[in-house]
Amino acid sequence: MSTTRSKTTIILLLSTIFLHLTASTTAIGVNYGTLSDNLPPPTKVAEFLQTKTTIDRIKLFDANPEILRAFANTSISVTVTVGNGDIPGMVEASTAQKWVADNIAPYYLETKIIRVTVGNEILKSAVKNWIVNLVPAMKSLHKALVNAGFKDIQVSTPHTLSLVEHSEPPSAARFRVGYDKQVIIPMLQFLRETKSPLMINPYPYFGWAQSVSDYCLFKPNKGIYDENTKITYMSMFDAIMDAVYTSMKAIDYDDIEIVIAETGWSSAGDPEEAACSVENAKAFNGNVARRATESIGTPLMPKKIFETYIFALFNENLKSGGTSEKNFGLFKPDFTPVYDIGIMKTGQQQDSEKENTTQTNENMDDFGDGNMAETNENKDVTENNTQTHKKNTDMSGNTTRTEENKENTSVSVTRTHEHSGVSVNQTKEDTGVDAKSIATRLISYCQYIVYILSTVISIYVTMH
Ligand SMILES: *[C@@H]1O[C@H](CO)[C@@H](O)[C@H](O)[C@H]1NC(C)=O
Ligand SMILES: *[C@@H]1O[C@H](CO)[C@@H](O)[C@H](O)[C@H]1NC(C)=O
Ligand SMILES: *[C@@H]1O[C@H](CO)[C@@H](O)[C@H](O)[C@H]1NC(C)=O
Ligand SMILES: *[C@@H]1O[C@H](CO)[C@@H](O)[C@H](O)[C@H]1NC(C)=O
Ligand SMILES: *[C@@H]1O[C@H](CO)[C@@H](O)[C@H](O)[C@H]1NC(C)=O
Repeated sequence: MSTTRSKTTIILLLSTIFLHLTASTTAIGVNYGTLSDNLPPPTKVAEFLQTKTTIDRIKLFDANPEILRAFANTSISVTVTVGNGDIPGMVEASTAQKWVADNIAPYYLETKIIRVTVGNEILKSAVKNWIVNLVPAMKSLHKALVNAGFKDIQVSTPHTLSLVEHSEPPSAARFRVGYDKQVIIPMLQFLRETKSPLMINPYPYFGWAQSVSDYCLFKPNKGIYDENTKITYMSMFDAIMDAVYTSMKAIDYDDIEIVIAETGWSSAGDPEEAACSVENAKAFNGNVARRATESIGTPLMPKKIFETYIFALFNENLKSGGTSEKNFGLFKPDFTPVYDIGIMKTGQQQDSEKENTTQTNENMDDFGDGNMAETNENKDVTENNTQTHKKNTDMSGNTTRTEENKENTSVSVTRTHEHSGVSVNQTKEDTGVDAKSIATRLISYCQYIVYILSTVISIYVTMH
């Protein structure tokens, strides 16, 4: 029988397979901070994200009811945060139960709440009462969620890179002694038991110096050689991620997923803030966005796609600190992109689009993968470690800033921004995108297998 027909069939099938394999399965998340007096109403934000962008998940620094309502009936996943100041109380079962009843129950399921983060950067806060109660609060909250029937809502907590020490080279990294046995191991155990991710906030931005600018921005550079692994790191981002991974592996917890709860770059700063520019922000965030959608991974986690939340959705004019702090947004309050990192839906329909719109991520071809090399002196990187964003004051008015820098590791990009505003005792959140992306990938693989089988069958049928 017609070999022509079978050839055509095969070509069609192969094309379909190819399309399936190349389709992105994971989109990008953003931190929706609200420290600003000129932001659009949450309902407009929800509509904008849903119809105009490929952003498919948001993380809040609180559990803002208006935002939670606004994202009802959208496909956008939401992570909410328990305020730092609420942590000690949350250990009490009745308090956790009430928190869930007040902040989750009214919105779930219409609002796709996938994760609750308990506090924000607590280890860095140096507030003992928060640190010692962190894991107990996470467990208590998890239990309250399960008891309320919200079994698929994950519980985690974001960390600065201060939880890791000796991070240079990445192969030498270990969790910080002192916190490791008291907090980190119990936390990892909890995360493993509840199939929840470790959330980290890697900020090469805070490690920026002119001498390592290309290394920070994924541009061609000489790289930094790790003697132990014989790996040359081409970006600080990869080095940070692998330092975390190495720390997990050293204590046999490398099976836990890593979520990038915050990363970003300021697009404008004061004259002395040389790191800040639209070009740099676009280069950094564009590459981060690629890593959230393409199987690039890191040297120790090849092809890994990380669920990622860029900081931040909007420029926020009420953030304290210099100009740079107010300019981390991907968008201006009028929804104009500050720069484009390929997260706009193509075709920008002006009418309200339906589900029909295909999302397309334009990948930023204009940025190199960061593979070339340059050398960076790590020291420079460390000098600036002390910078930090100012963190938010929590509701209770206690400022959580954590910026004391400690050591010199290049990973010590441990600074943090202030995120307040949004909330009540702020916290960040993340979503269980992992489960979703795994499911999506599984579906893709199943479809792939089905296609292969049908190809084989059709060839067989055609030939007989
Ligand atoms: C979500 O959709 C449901 C069903 O259409 C509707 O009843 C509900 O009011 C919507 N929720 C919100 C918050 O709009
Ligand atoms: C969806 O896309 C199809 C094909 O492009 C188009 O014909 C159809 O009108 C769209 N449906 C909606 C609801 O837009
Ligand atoms: C890092 O410190 C150097 C020297 O202090 C300064 O010139 C540079 O601007 C700093 N980098 C950032 C990102 O602030
Ligand atoms: C927060 O501030 C209040 C009042 O300043 C203080 O009493 C309280 O101890 C602080 N809480 C923490 C955790 O620092
Ligand atoms: C950084 O490390 C160097 C070398 O280890 C040390 O001499 C220097 O004091 C450290 N700097 C800081 C700020 O700790």
